Parts: sequence; C-alpha cells; structure tokens
Amino acid sequence: MKTLGIAPLLRGLTFDGEKGDIVVSCETIENPELSCSLDELETKFTKGVRSVLVEGAGAFQLGEDYDDAVNGTSNARKVTGRAGVINNKVCVVTGGAQGFGEGIVRALIAQGALVFIADMNVDGAKGLADELNKEAGRTVAFGVAVNVTDEESVLKMVGEVVDTAGGIDLFVSNAGVLKAGSVKEMSLKDFEFVTDVNYVGFFLCTKHVAPVMEAMNKPSGKYFTDIICISSKSALEGSNKNGAYAGSKFGSVGLVQSFAKELVTDNTKVNTVCPGNFFDGPLWSDPDRGLFVQYLTTGKVPGAETVEDVKRFYEAQVPMNRGCDGEDVTKAILYSVEQKYETGQAIPVTGGQVMLN
Ligand SMILES: NC(=O)c1ccc[n+]([C@@H]2O[C@H](COP(=O)([O-])OP(=O)(O)OC[C@H]3O[C@@H](n4cnc5c(N)ncnc54)[C@H](O)[C@@H]3O)[C@@H](O)[C@H]2O)c1
Repeated sequence: MKTLGIAPLLRGLTFDGEKGDIVVSCETIENPELSCSLDELETKFTKGVRSVLVEGAGAFQLGEDYDDAVNGTSNARKVTGRAGVINNKVCVVTGGAQGFGEGIVRALIAQGALVFIADMNVDGAKGLADELNKEAGRTVAFGVAVNVTDEESVLKMVGEVVDTAGGIDLFVSNAGVLKAGSVKEMSLKDFEFVTDVNYVGFFLCTKHVAPVMEAMNKPSGKYFTDIICISSKSALEGSNKNGAYAGSKFGSVGLVQSFAKELVTDNTKVNTVCPGNFFDGPLWSDPDRGLFVQYLTTGKVPGAETVEDVKRFYEAQVPMNRGCDGEDVTKAILYSVEQKYETGQAIPVTGGQVMLN
C-alpha cells in the first residue's frame, strides 16, 4: 500500500489518450530499465519503459494488460473508437459477486476491461474471477474482499487494486442492501444498516478512490476517470413502506451531484445509474427468500396463485414489460464513460417505468 501514490502516477505518465499502462507493484526487479529516486521519477520516466525501480519506495512492472506487465504475454485486444471505450481499463465493481454487480462485471469484461470484483462475499468474488479468467484464457478479473461500511476495509481494497493494476479508471459503487418496512415499525438498527451500506458506503469508497484518480490525472491533466453509483428508480420517486432504501438512494444522488462538482477539477466524472427492478436476480427470484415468493406468501398481489403470477404483475408495471438486467445497466455505465461532457447526472434505466421531470 505504500505504492498508493506512485503506481497511479506511473499509470498517468503512460497515458495514451484513453488510459495508461497496467502497473504491477512488486518487491524488487533485477536489471530495471529505469532506476531513480521518487523525486526524479516524473522527469526521468519515458513511455515504453517496462520496469522501474523507485529507490526506497518499490518496484513496478508495466504492460498493455496484466499478463503483459507480469510476463510479457499480452493478449490485449486491439480495439479503437467506441468499442474501445473501456478496453484495458481498470474497473472495480463493489458487490460484484452476484446480482446486478455480476452482470456488470461480465459485461465490462466482454468489453475488454480488467475488473476487480470487490465484495463482502470474498469466496463468491474469487470464484467468479476464476471462472471468468478461465473463460477468457487470460487475466481479466480479480476477487478482493471489502466491507464498504468499514473505512479500513475500503482503504485496504483500494490499496490491493492499486498494487495489482496501478490505478482505477472506473469505480462502480454497486453494493447495496434493501430492508423494506413501515416507518411506524422499522427499527433504527434496520434503518441504519440500509443507510450505512447504500449511502455511507458510497461516501467511503469515493473518499479513497478519488485521490488515486487525481494522481493518475496529474501528469497529463487529460486523464478522465469515472465514479458511478448504482442507485435505483427509488432514487427518483419515493417507495411505499421502503423509506430507508429510497432515502439512502435519494441521498446518494445528492452525494453524486456534490462530488461531481468537486472532482471535476481532477477530470473525475461522478454519475449515478438508476435501474428498475432486476426481476431475474436473486433479490426477486431467489426460490426461498426472493421477493416474488415473499409477496406470494403474504398475499401482497391480489389474486396471484403462483410466483409467475406475482412476476407478471410487476412486469406489467413496466412499459417495456420486463425487468432490468446487468447488461442494461452497463450500457448506461459505458455511456457515462464515453461521454466527456457530462457529470453529476442520474441516468434512469427503468424500461420507461420512471421518467425524469
Ligand atoms: N435488484 C433490484 O431489483 C435492484 C433495483 C434497482 C437498484 N438495485 C441496486 O443495485 C445494487 C445491486 O443490487 P442487487 O439486487 O444486485 O443485490 P444483491 O443482493 O443480489 O447483491 C449485492 C452484493 O453486494 C454485496 N454486499 C452487500 N453488502 C456489502 C458490503 N457492506 N460491502 C461489500 N459488499 C456488500 C453482497 O455480498 C452481494 O454480493 C444495489 O445497490 C441495489 O440497491 C437493485
């Protein structure tokens, strides 16, 4: 973690107009192409250098993608223009082990990204990373542990990402929880649990990711980076007996707008994507604890006799007649990354269910 400032600086020094090199921190390097003090780094470094020893601070291997940096076997895709908007960029997705997060992870990797799956469920995150690396035949993902409500844990996760890849181009704050309940009955404990993950967690992640992005931008002043909060359609319209959730999501829009105004000076854009319901994800469709089963059991949908009846009732509330999925959300993320003239926005992805005023 002592390399927290140096590796992003190197990623910034190798900026090619879209992104920098992957920078892998290591204990030491034999015969480095450049050996210098920290003070000399910016003046002595030239593009194309692949190994750097910074006296007393650490050693760094550089490459086009992770495998290229570590052992010179690059399989990096050569993509330019619109299709290359996220290619070989370093992305972090919190809560990426399942649900929307997993869908976002898969879609970003399909677009050529190196993705860190940061989750409290570290076994799930690592298992998914292993599966994706095997599928790709190259290193495209890592699983890392994080509890977004714990500042030390967030700092450690950011340090691990930076030590492994040299920086963060896109940070997706997706980890979120829902506990529904009447305002007359909800316990303070449940209210605080939801607020801590959905609202405070986004603050803590932004607090520790933003300085890394600032360091990457410093050499060129042209290195755009993105922080995206996955909020909800409940960030745009109140949700009956679901105030803790909707409040935390409305609140995150306030944070997004405020952070966007501040971080624009570092070329860091901050936006939020507001998805509709992910009916095929575990929150709704888990056969034991999913909302469809719960709503069937509690008779919330009049006349519904099966889980399918409950599902159809909710789908019918969406003009586009289906739930949202990770790919729908990723399209909005890619728009935000590609768009260099917008920040602080809340982008609905709701199949027309909630429209902006
Ligand atoms: N599912 C939906 O219908 C829906 C709709 C709109 C918005 N959203 C939002 O999308 C995001 C993902 O929702 P989902 O339904 O896919 O969730 P999910 O419950 O399926 O997955 C959430 C993931 O986050 C992880 N997580 C939970 N608390 C964490 C913490 N403190 N630190 C780190 N990781 C933690 C979990 O381990 C899990 O892998 C949330 O922010 C949610 O509010 C969901």
